[in-house]
Amino acid sequence: MKIDLRSDTVTKPSQGMLEAMMLAEVGDDVFREDATVLQLEKKLADMFGKDSALFFPSGTMANQTAVKLHTNPGEQVICDKYAHIYNYESGGVAFNSGVSCKLVDGNKGMFTAQQVIEAINPSDYWYAKTSLVEIENTTNKGGGACWDFEEILKIKKVCDEHELGFHLDGARLWNALVAKNEAPKDYGAIFDTISVCLSKGLGCPIGSVLIGDAHTMGQAMRIRKIFGGNMRQVGYLAAAGLYALDNHIERLVEDHKKAKEIGEALEKLSVIKIIEPIETNIVIFELNNDVDEATFKQRLANKDIHIIGMGGGKLRMVTHLDYTDAMHDKLVQVLKNSNFTSN
Ligand SMILES: Cc1ncc(COP(=O)(O)O)c(C=O)c1O
Repeated sequence: MKIDLRSDTVTKPSQGMLEAMMLAEVGDDVFREDATVLQLEKKLADMFGKDSALFFPSGTMANQTAVKLHTNPGEQVICDKYAHIYNYESGGVAFNSGVSCKLVDGNKGMFTAQQVIEAINPSDYWYAKTSLVEIENTTNKGGGACWDFEEILKIKKVCDEHELGFHLDGARLWNALVAKNEAPKDYGAIFDTISVCLSKGLGCPIGSVLIGDAHTMGQAMRIRKIFGGNMRQVGYLAAAGLYALDNHIERLVEDHKKAKEIGEALEKLSVIKIIEPIETNIVIFELNNDVDEATFKQRLANKDIHIIGMGGGKLRMVTHLDYTDAMHDKLVQVLKNSNFTSN
């Protein structure tokens, strides 16, 4: 039994999802004639209380489009030092939009309104013009942490006062909504743009959606085209998204419960230095200095359990739709009964 905890992106479509995909009504989406894509976009726009939404092949392209929408070359984006757009999008913000990032030294990938105020450059022409604030909820490198909604409201106020765009990388917003019992419309009312992923916790093979007002999303169409993201009969993929929105959101509580139990099992190991608090489906931990990361990973791999490093000594396990109860029982037993010290 292979146990793959490297990411929640490793899932394969379920039978129900495959059937929904095969039955999808499709058309050429470049001509905006794919009924299923249009249905998915409308469903998400309505869910978030926004005018419009656009289907993207990846979260990276949706985020990069958002950065492009809100900035001009030479300007600056405020984001956390752990931000996906800064760390894991191949320097795309510089390549695609010609902008730099002002990194905030936040806590688990999250920061305060006061830190935003301090990060805004003076309007003096020596400085890069600050034009966008970007946050991630949940935070990936921050261990699936969920933002305090009150702090988001305060940041929004700062954005309004300084005429800054506000983008949410909501690749795993579904997890935050479920964990904190929040409503998508609350987020829609605050952010200029929101990207959500269907291919992570929701179990789709592909797909992200960018959500915003009509004018902004009209421009997003052009940028998606420039980035090569126009697709044709992708209703087959949008159908997976519709299926996931109806069937795979509430069940995220199961992933969160299993992640907490993994954390409890890890806590008992003498080789563990730190485990980030577990709020959703991501477990991030560090090993004691005398324990080799590669050895730890290999000992698990020998039992067909696969985890991933995040750099800087951080290791990650992510629970997901295809991580079954039987796999969970096995992992907890392995953690209980194995010796992970290097000698
Ligand atoms: C927080 C966050 N944003 C964006 C992305 C990018 O998504 P994709 O892999 O679909 O490009 C990821 C991917 O893991 C992510 O974790």
